[in-house]
Amino acid sequence: MADTPAFPKDFLWGASTSAYQIEGAAAEDGRAPSIWDSFCRLKGRVDNGESGDVACDHYHRMPGDVALMRDLGLQAYRFSVSWPRVLPRGRGAVNDKGLDFYDRLIDRLLEHGIEPWLCLYHWDLPQALHDLGGWANRDSAGWFADYAALCARRYGDRVKRWATFNEFSVFTLFGYAFGWGAPSIADRATHLAVIHHVNLAHGAGVDVLRALVPGASIGAVHSVQPMRPEAGPSGFARPEDVEAAALFDEHWNWAFPDPQLRAHYPPRIAAAIEPFVKPGDMARIARPLDWFGLNHYAPVYGRRDDSLIWGFGFGSPPPEMPRTDIGWPYDPGAFRDTLLDLTRRYRLPVYVTENGFGTKADETPDADGRVLDDARVAYLRDYTGAMAEALAAGADVRGYFAWSLFDNFEWGGGYGTRFGLVRVDYETQARIPKESARWYADLIRAVSISGAGEQA
Ligand code: FCB
Repeated sequence: MADTPAFPKDFLWGASTSAYQIEGAAAEDGRAPSIWDSFCRLKGRVDNGESGDVACDHYHRMPGDVALMRDLGLQAYRFSVSWPRVLPRGRGAVNDKGLDFYDRLIDRLLEHGIEPWLCLYHWDLPQALHDLGGWANRDSAGWFADYAALCARRYGDRVKRWATFNEFSVFTLFGYAFGWGAPSIADRATHLAVIHHVNLAHGAGVDVLRALVPGASIGAVHSVQPMRPEAGPSGFARPEDVEAAALFDEHWNWAFPDPQLRAHYPPRIAAAIEPFVKPGDMARIARPLDWFGLNHYAPVYGRRDDSLIWGFGFGSPPPEMPRTDIGWPYDPGAFRDTLLDLTRRYRLPVYVTENGFGTKADETPDADGRVLDDARVAYLRDYTGAMAEALAAGADVRGYFAWSLFDNFEWGGGYGTRFGLVRVDYETQARIPKESARWYADLIRAVSISGAGEQA
């Protein structure tokens, strides 16, 4: 590729998915409901009343899907285990058929030379545990540690890359503060308890993985997006929006990585969390990690919003900011800066565990059967280019996982928002690699052949 930016030859290239978004088979082989199955049943909460019941039917199509990954030249694949598939009641009796599925997936990946990156929690808490209080119950840290131990014992001989959670701040804010995601709660005290218990669960999970998986490389996946106050037509932000955005920033970006990596909560929320913190907790949370997983999409514009429990909410980007057709700002420079800031802040190698382009467009194949997703190709080119700039400026970035391998169930957006490199026709379940998949495959090939410094 003439325009391949500079990446080290051993830079790791992969793609990410999550269990509930792709697997389907929601009531098969002993899987029990998660809080997302329940949420999807609530009227009007997910676009078109959709759910992950069938999704990409990956549970049945896994061998073909892994072959597709190999054809694209993916070197790593980040997936999540569905907790209610392997432990239908969240704890206690295991479900062998569920455990077998991930055995087969892992074996198949390894046969094709693709490194498995296993994420334990991508938002699908077993409903049975939610019924016991879920993350608001301090016992949840122990439930999570037991689940982590089950997976570690079962898969740790073959899986060396482990992430505890995906996007702590997003599922806790959306699920327990805004009420827009499962389990649809909006309550300050619950939200604060959940933040602390999820942090404790992370720490307990890390200890279990470290003890049970020889040679484990352990991280956690965070959503970090620069927070900017909304600016009005004058170009200046109102003081109340600046203040609200500052609190939003701590909740969104730092409420999890700061305690996990610096052993303290950020200043604006520390006092509120204090009643939930018992002696020794901060040391339980801050366990040594091997890498920082960054999910990055776009800067967030915060503003005061008194209709939401914390008084902050989403504002608008300035009119001159380019946006994608789902309204997300298009700002590769923010990605570069985030990579540099994180390198300085936590001093851990960074893996970009999600980044990608979503669209409401249907992206149907043309007469030649090709899906010409030019806007996604441009996005990937610009964002991987920004990542190369960050590397050149000293950011310690080791790998990149595109979100997502497939079009899939995009949470509250249902199937109407497509993020995939590979189109999924939900009528037939046919997979069609888009132009972006070909572009990505070419990039991977070019970098792994020539590496840094030999680009045109
Ligand atoms: C992230 C989620 C992922 C997907 C992308 C678009 O917040 O981790 O599951 O929904 O956004």
